[in-house]
Amino acid sequence: MKINLISDTVTKPTKEMLTAMLQAEVGDDVFKLDPTVNKLQEKLAEMFGMEDALFFPSGTMANQTAIKLHTQPGDRMFCDKYAHVYNYEGGGAAFNAGVTSCLIDGDRGMFTAAQLASLVKGRNDIHTPYNKLVCIENTTNKGGGACWDFEELKRIQKVTKENDLSFHLDGARLFNALVAKGEMPKQYGDLFDTISICLSKGLGAPIGSVLIGSKKHIEKALRIRKLLGGAMRQVGYLAAAGIYALDNHVERLAEDHLKAKEIGTVLRNTSYVKKVEPIETNIVIFYVKDTLDADDFMKNMEEKGILLIAMGEGKIRIVTHLDYSNEMHEHLLNELKKFKG
Ligand SMILES: Cc1ncc(COP(=O)(O)O)c(C=O)c1O
Repeated sequence: MKINLISDTVTKPTKEMLTAMLQAEVGDDVFKLDPTVNKLQEKLAEMFGMEDALFFPSGTMANQTAIKLHTQPGDRMFCDKYAHVYNYEGGGAAFNAGVTSCLIDGDRGMFTAAQLASLVKGRNDIHTPYNKLVCIENTTNKGGGACWDFEELKRIQKVTKENDLSFHLDGARLFNALVAKGEMPKQYGDLFDTISICLSKGLGAPIGSVLIGSKKHIEKALRIRKLLGGAMRQVGYLAAAGIYALDNHVERLAEDHLKAKEIGTVLRNTSYVKKVEPIETNIVIFYVKDTLDADDFMKNMEEKGILLIAMGEGKIRIVTHLDYSNEMHEHLLNELKKFKG
């Protein structure tokens, strides 16, 4: 049995999703003539109570477009030191938008309004980069699937308003947070200027992200997406997978969260694990004891058909997802229990 837990991006479309894709009505989306893409965009804009939305091939392109549309070269963006937009998008904020990043020393990828306020209050004149944008990520990837406290997000938004800053949400896994916390998309639509949503992570589509925002912001995004080479043609076949995922794969995220918590419980009871980070959604981050080489542990698991991902310094990540069945779960738990460090 092969069990791939390196990311929730490894899922393949279900038969039902493939059928929905094959049946999609399509057209040339560059001319806004693809009815399925239009439907997906309208669906997400409506769900979040925002004016408009735009389909992208990737979360990276959706985030990078957002950063570019909110800033001018030389401006400053604030984000957590763990932020995907800073660490894992190829330095795109600097390359595409020419912005400089102010990294905030948060906890598990989350900072406070007070931290942001103290950084924003610094000198802001002709010598300094203009403060323009705040990006947050919910759930946090490098932070182990942590969910932000919504009240703290409201306080952060207050700081952005007081200081004339735009507010972008990297919501690659926002639906995991919504399900885990019982929150509504409109709460987020009310708070942020732009939100990117990934359809190809926990939701199980093979590709696709959507940027949601005001008509003015999405109009700008359309131009930037073109410039980045992300304008696509009969892409309704892919948008159909996203629509199917939104209709069928949201509530089930709770199953991924439960499995992640069960993995955490087993890991905490082994002799070879030093620490398991708190588990709120579908990401488990743990550290093996200093006496065990993380690479040896990973190799041992790989020999049993189990793929995990090492994050350095004895840190290992497991991500549960749609293709991780109950049978695989039982198998993994047994192997974790059986392993002697
Ligand atoms: C938090 C977060 N944002 C953005 C992305 C980028 O998505 P993509 O891989 O579709 O470019 C990822 C990908 O893992 C992510 O985890």
